[in-house]
This record gives sequence, structure tokens and C-alpha cells, in this order.
Amino acid sequence: MAEKKNLFSGIQPSGDFTIGNYYGAIKNWVKIQYDYNCYFCIVDLHALTVPQDAAALRRRTMECYAMLIASGLSLEETTLFVQSHVPAHSELMWLLNCFTYMGELSRMTQYKDKSVKQGENVRAALFDYPVLMAADILLYQTHLVPVGDDQKQHIELTRDIATRFNHLYSPTFEIPEGYYPKTGARIMSLQEPTSKMSKSDTNENAFISLKDAPDTIVRKLKRAVTDSEAAVHYDEKNKPGISNLIQIYASACDMDIENAQREVEGLSYADFKLRVAEAIIENLKPIQAEYARLMSDKAVLEEYMKVGADKAERTAVKTLRKVQKKVGLVPRGR
Ligand code: TYM
Repeated sequence: MAEKKNLFSGIQPSGDFTIGNYYGAIKNWVKIQYDYNCYFCIVDLHALTVPQDAAALRRRTMECYAMLIASGLSLEETTLFVQSHVPAHSELMWLLNCFTYMGELSRMTQYKDKSVKQGENVRAALFDYPVLMAADILLYQTHLVPVGDDQKQHIELTRDIATRFNHLYSPTFEIPEGYYPKTGARIMSLQEPTSKMSKSDTNENAFISLKDAPDTIVRKLKRAVTDSEAAVHYDEKNKPGISNLIQIYASACDMDIENAQREVEGLSYADFKLRVAEAIIENLKPIQAEYARLMSDKAVLEEYMKVGADKAERTAVKTLRKVQKKVGLVPRGR
């Protein structure tokens, strides 16, 4: 049997996971976990690129880890770990920094967007963030990176850095490819349907968290911004709110957009919103039950994290040592 390809993806513990993260990433990870040699990482170092409360970050890292297991990731099939537990990520990042250009980083749209929000004191780490992401991916000789559309530019940069290094030295890194879901790759804000749903949005009505209770989900959907046409059909340009809800419905029911639209056209906006809410609630019910069970025993979660980090580290260190050697660092010796 052919060897399984390597797959890596990461998610920030910068807020409670939203249905954007779930339909854009996590649900897809759960589906493909048996087909690849998978590494999934809670990227806590990435979260520090913007201000974080230390206690909240610590708590959320634990919660996010539990939520990934509750969503269906198997600890036997995948390597599930916390980024800061594997120091090779920071170490490779430094080395890759030496092969990345300022011009490349300043073209990143996510940096441009996020730095505006930070005002005058933009952290150097925010600028350098894509290099840490490249290190995450390249350490595991990754073939495929399942992400939402918003990460495309970062994946392209990772490929450029890896290709550059391979040419300068000799083949060292696998050149990874992005892997984007057909539906759900871009779930939009419920309040501002032209920008993406984000877990760090200050307006709680803009997103649905995986922890939201059924009545909260219904309330947030009732308040979701739509339009005045009163006809349920998909038209991203002229009806971004309704189109987003159709996309969410399609993702929740594992359908394509056309079939989802066929099911709901003719409904009033109120009935359509209720239908979408019910589909989300149905998806989240078993996840929330399992999440509550997992969170009741933190010691077990910590043990899972340790096993995951040990497993990840064994692979990561092999790549790191190769890179250190190629660039001319003297081995420490035993
Ligand atoms: P993050 O934490 O913002 O999001 C995690 C995953 O969820 C996807 N996503 C969405 N998909 C659809 N609609 C949305 N509204 C939405 N919001 C988020 C993201 O595309 C992502 O797949 N830089 C990454 C984390 C990261 C990473 C990596 C990813 C760090 N290192 C290495 C892959 C490989 C990020 O901030 O994701």
C-alpha cells in the first residue's frame, strides 16, 4: 500500500471557535483524517501576535484542544498538539527568516488588515507571522494544508520560501499545496456579510461560537443582516447576507450550494433563518456534549497534549536538524 501523504493544519486559540472555523476547516479535517498522516496544531504562538490576556489564552488553549477532539478528531489517527510545546517551530522560524524578504511580507493582505487595527504599535511578530506559519508547515514535510480561502496567500509564501531554500541548498522541504473546501471556505460575518466571520470580532452577534446554546444561535440568526428583496436565492454580489446563510446551510447539511438553494427557495426570511439555525444546532449538539465531558477532566487533556507534542517533536526535529546542518550550524554534540 502506498504511504499516506502528510497533512498539516493549525488554528489559533484567539477566541472560541466559530462555525466559520468549523465549516471552513475543522469539519473537513475530521472527514479526511483517515486518508492522510495528519498533524493538527493549536497555534498559541501565533495568537500572541496581537495583545492577549495571559490567563484567558491559557484557558482557551485548553478549551480549543478539547473542542477539536469533541469535533471528531481522533487522537489515534492524528497528531494533535500545542505549537509552543514543540520548540522546533520557533527555531525553524528564525532560520526561515533568513530566507524571507521584507517585500514579500509587506504584501500580505492579512498583515495589512490586522496592522491597521493595532494602531501605531504594530508588533514585529504580526509582520513576521507568515514565517512562523511556514515553519509550522515545512517541519512536517507537509504535502497538503487544508485551510479556508483567507490563508491562500500565506500558503503561497510558504511554497516560495521552501522552493528558494531547496534551490539554494538541496532538496530539503516538501513543497506543500493548499487544500480548500468546496463549500464553507469563506463563511462571512452575520452582521457585516462582506467580511469574514472571525472569532476575535468584538460584536458577538457577528459570529456563532461552537459553544453557543440553541436559543443564542436562534437569536443571532434572527438578527443576521439580510436585504429587503424577500427572496431566498444565492447571489453573492447583491445578496451577501442571504448567500452567506445558504452557504452555512449547505455546509451544515453536507450539500452543494445548488441543492441547498433548491431546498430553501420559497421560504420567508424568518422561516429560512430558523431552518439554518436548526441545522447548526443539530451539528453542534453532539460536539457540545462531548466537549463538556472532556473539559471535566483537565489532567487527561494535559496528558493527551503531552503525547501529541512528543509525537510531533520526533518528526519536527528531524527536519530542523537537516536545515541547521545545511546552513552551517555546528552540531552541539552529545
Ligand atoms: P485561524 O485560527 O484564523 O483559522 C483556522 C482555520 O479556520 C479557517 N477560517 C475560516 N474558514 C471559513 N470561513 C471563515 N470565516 C473562517 N475563519 C477562519 C481558516 O482559513 C483556517 O483554516 N494562520 C492560521 C493558523 C495557522 C496555520 C498554520 C494554518 C498557523 N500555522 C499552518 C495552516 C497551516 C490562522 O490564523 O487560522
